[in-house]
Amino acid sequence: MDARSPARGRIALVTGASRGIGAGIARVLGTAGYGVAVGYRERIEGALEVASDCERGMPVQVDVADDDSVESAFAVVRAELGEVDLLVNNAGIAQEKPFLDLTDAEWERMFSVNLLGSVRTIRRVLPGMCERGFGRIVNISSIGGQWGGVNQLHYAAAKAALLNLTRSIAKLHSKDGVTCNAIAPGLVATEMSGAELETAAGRAKVARIPVGRLGTPEEIGAAVRFLASDEAGYVTGQTLNLNGGMLFA
Ligand SMILES: NC(=O)c1ccc[n+]([C@@H]2O[C@H](COP(=O)([O-])OP(=O)(O)OC[C@H]3O[C@@H](n4cnc5c(N)ncnc54)[C@H](OP(=O)(O)O)[C@@H]3O)[C@@H](O)[C@H]2O)c1
Repeated sequence: MDARSPARGRIALVTGASRGIGAGIARVLGTAGYGVAVGYRERIEGALEVASDCERGMPVQVDVADDDSVESAFAVVRAELGEVDLLVNNAGIAQEKPFLDLTDAEWERMFSVNLLGSVRTIRRVLPGMCERGFGRIVNISSIGGQWGGVNQLHYAAAKAALLNLTRSIAKLHSKDGVTCNAIAPGLVATEMSGAELETAAGRAKVARIPVGRLGTPEEIGAAVRFLASDEAGYVTGQTLNLNGGMLFA
């Protein structure tokens, strides 16, 4: 990237970047001029590898289900890299289970990670972003949050709520220079989607994708890079559908 690029010197925090989509996003940003905090919950080796692929990257332990962990992670990032200009809420969990078998605890855990996880991070970056008059928040939702779930209704419901949170933050803070957008991936080959993709139903789903293949973490990363750019300052409260044509919304 050009040394005069506005991204140079900006700081990004990507949660859940030790593998999968988050790793792809962190790598794209890390070669586009951003200083990147590579979030991980457990797998430090993955985060170290991703950080080493970035021009200026560092792993940071952050469990988004734990408010204290989020607080310490931001303190570490602030001290090591600086204030976060771009927050990518990517960390997420999935759980395949029929609706009638899901317990309250499983619903609560799903919402704590996949919805409240973003609330916990957003409330830490918003005041500073508003004060500086610039900020970018990108929430990784899912096509499940748009068309509903079949075997993980709690996942779909939390991802739908994340889309709504995205619009509310955009309504409240776009005038402060802080845009908030969501990306809704369709199917990307990662550990999360691995089990589903091995089933006959999963293979049939892939065969029906109009583009004819799965998405890649780097394609999600490229969309984040666009939403984070100065050029995207008029894009806010939107959901970018990166699903190969699986759903036209
Ligand atoms: N793959 C798909 O087809 C697909 C489709 C639509 C949407 N998405 C969404 O895209 C995002 C990334 O998915 P993925 O497929 O890359 O998943 P993945 O391969 O399962 O990776 C999940 C990542 O999230 C981290 N994580 C899990 N729980 C966490 C927690 N409580 N706090 C912080 N980090 C946590 C993991 O960290 P550790 O490695 O340290 O455990 C890992 O880095 C998720 O939000 C997912 O819902 C994925």
